[in-house]
Amino acid sequence: MNRKQFLKIFFPSFGVILIYLWDRLTKNIFDSNFREKQTALTNDFPNGITLQKDFIIIKNKDKLKIFSSRCSHLGCRINNVNKNIFTCPCHGSQFDLNGIPIKGPAAKSLTELKFKMDSKQNQIIIFS
Ligand code: FES
Repeated sequence: MNRKQFLKIFFPSFGVILIYLWDRLTKNIFDSNFREKQTALTNDFPNGITLQKDFIIIKNKDKLKIFSSRCSHLGCRINNVNKNIFTCPCHGSQFDLNGIPIKGPAAKSLTELKFKMDSKQNQIIIFS
C-alpha cells in the first residue's frame, strides 16, 4: 500500500469515527437528563397524597407535584402523612405540602423532582 492508497482509506474512516464521537459527546452534553435516574410509574394515582417508596406524589386534578421521600435532615425515608403534614420517622421533622419544613431539625425543604408525562404509555417519568 502506498501513501496515496493509505490516505484514501484513512481519511474517510477517520471522518466516520469523528462523526460518531461527536454525536456521542454532544448527546451527553445536551441531554440534561443523561445523568439522572429515571423512574417510570403508571399514572393512576388518586387525587391527594400518595407515598411511594422513594417519592411523595401530590395530585390535584391535573396538577402534580413530586418530592423525594428522603428527609432533608439526614435522609431517612418519610413514610407518614397526617392532615397534610409529612413527618420523618427518624427525628420528627415535619414538612408541609410544598415540602417546606415546619418543624426541625430539618432546615431545608424536601427536594422537588422533575418529571414528564408519557400519555401514550400512561406513565410519569420521574427524574431523580
Ligand atoms: S432524618 Fe428526618 S428528621 Fe432527621
